[in-house]
Amino acid sequence: MNTPSTRTRDGAGTEWWREAVIYQIYPRSFADSDGDGIGDLPGVVDRLDDLVALGIDAIWLSPFYPSPQADAGYDVADYRDVDPIFGRLTDADRLIAEAHRRGLRVIVDLVPNHTSSAHPWFVEALGAEPGSAARDRYVFRDGRGQHGDRPPNSWRSVFGGPAWTRTDNPDGTPGQWYLHLFDAGQPDLNWDSEQVRDEFVAILRFWLDRGVDGFRVDVAHGLVKQADLADWHYPEETTSGDHVDQPRPPMWDQDGVHEIYRQWRSVLDEHPGQQILVAEAWVQPAERLAAYVRPDEMHQAFNFEYLEAAWTSDAQRTVIERSLAATDKVGAPTTWVLSNHDVLRHATRLALPIGAARPRGIGANDPQPDTALGLRRARAATLLMLALPGSAYLYQGEELGLPEHTTLPDEVRQDPTWRRTDHTERGRDGCRVPIPWEADSPSYGFGPTDASWLPQPPVWAEYALDRQRDVPGSTYELYRTALRLRRDLGLGAGRLRWLESPEDVLACCVDEVTVVTNFGAEPVSLPPGTEPLIASGPLNGSGRVPTDVTVWARQRVR
Ligand code: GLC
Ligand code: MG
Repeated sequence: MNTPSTRTRDGAGTEWWREAVIYQIYPRSFADSDGDGIGDLPGVVDRLDDLVALGIDAIWLSPFYPSPQADAGYDVADYRDVDPIFGRLTDADRLIAEAHRRGLRVIVDLVPNHTSSAHPWFVEALGAEPGSAARDRYVFRDGRGQHGDRPPNSWRSVFGGPAWTRTDNPDGTPGQWYLHLFDAGQPDLNWDSEQVRDEFVAILRFWLDRGVDGFRVDVAHGLVKQADLADWHYPEETTSGDHVDQPRPPMWDQDGVHEIYRQWRSVLDEHPGQQILVAEAWVQPAERLAAYVRPDEMHQAFNFEYLEAAWTSDAQRTVIERSLAATDKVGAPTTWVLSNHDVLRHATRLALPIGAARPRGIGANDPQPDTALGLRRARAATLLMLALPGSAYLYQGEELGLPEHTTLPDEVRQDPTWRRTDHTERGRDGCRVPIPWEADSPSYGFGPTDASWLPQPPVWAEYALDRQRDVPGSTYELYRTALRLRRDLGLGAGRLRWLESPEDVLACCVDEVTVVTNFGAEPVSLPPGTEPLIASGPLNGSGRVPTDVTVWARQRVR
């Protein structure tokens, strides 16, 4: 029932996730069934056949739980229900059943680092005494200074501003402070609390019993904080655990998180079927990340070092080599990813100056990236990624070649980053714009009306699915063909071997397939005796691979 027939070439019984291509659905921007301008679960059900046609193995849904939407649903007020804007719990059940009927697996998002401030636990904590059991589920502390009016430590919120907010006592006097590594509407849980641990095991079981195939674990590197909550002196980078050469920040990637995931793994292992845990952990280097996917912990961890690698043959080869080596050591697959709902879409990111730091959003007054260059590189990057052994995640709309919306009016922005940084960082709205399905329909087929919670740019018409389906050379057909070949050729389960190649060219074999990406200015020839199977862009007249193009080739059959 909840074990769909496996669609990999090895037949049933394989560990499906080791080579799966998993498609991220950001529910509010995928498909709107009721015309309120916000995508919903019935909308997803209506589009499942399109996902089957694309050729993916599983979907991951960003949170759809009841939430005040202070951070687009990553502020969960009830972990066991569906927010009315997205539908009802029965819609989630129907979605799981309908996906399974089509051989697609379903991964849901689990947000354990924090709840919403509207969660009954937090409401109870606010009304309770300092030192009470209710407060102990969160991280409450007295402030510093004579009147306790300075935050307990120097930590900053990932979205800007202090990571602490002061509360009022029931009598109206200023009280303790609570920790929130993200928005003030997202108080951090205290993972030393047995109640917190028990509750999340119960939540896992709740969704396992409803038939889900796994959990994407939000902020998996953040649950445990250094016990003394020591001050942290920030280098320029404020937000992640990827401080390669510096001491580890006291709020990220603490060793204590692993015990939690070992417990969760045992909960999953007790359950029939093959459900997985995938870590969202912004942790570098690759060896530290690999600790999250040791045999008794999670199954996958997003490879963000790969996502952030510069578009040069050196940087790409280094990160691929290093990631494979690190995960091989622990017997896990590498989990490739180029885009998600938190970063600039790669069709835009790859147009930025090579090696530049990743900006947090682009606005109408910023220099506008070259869309054609970005798309050309994005197609090359995707074709390279889909050849690599391991699992890969796609983010809704990338199969259409969608760029970031880089000219959103500031008034419509909803990412708390924009507000919390006093309007200096625009944030992530530009990658979250509802996606286009039909060029000539209202809201480009996103829903039955014109309504769209973020405005869609007019260029969406040319990216719409119905403009690309069956159109040779379209980005959509490139994805579809690549996904079919990847499956037929078993590339996800393949072995990678590097080939000698000119500078600025990356060349490797994955099993029988030769993969060449040209980062250089001059076109290059394919290895002798091979012929192209698929290319991310047109080859030049003599069959050579131009700049920013990836080709898969095979031995010429005589
Ligand atoms: C993760 C999510 C992001 C969210 C944050 C806080 O990074 O991917 O969207 O804002 O966690 O939950
Ligand atoms: Mg809706």
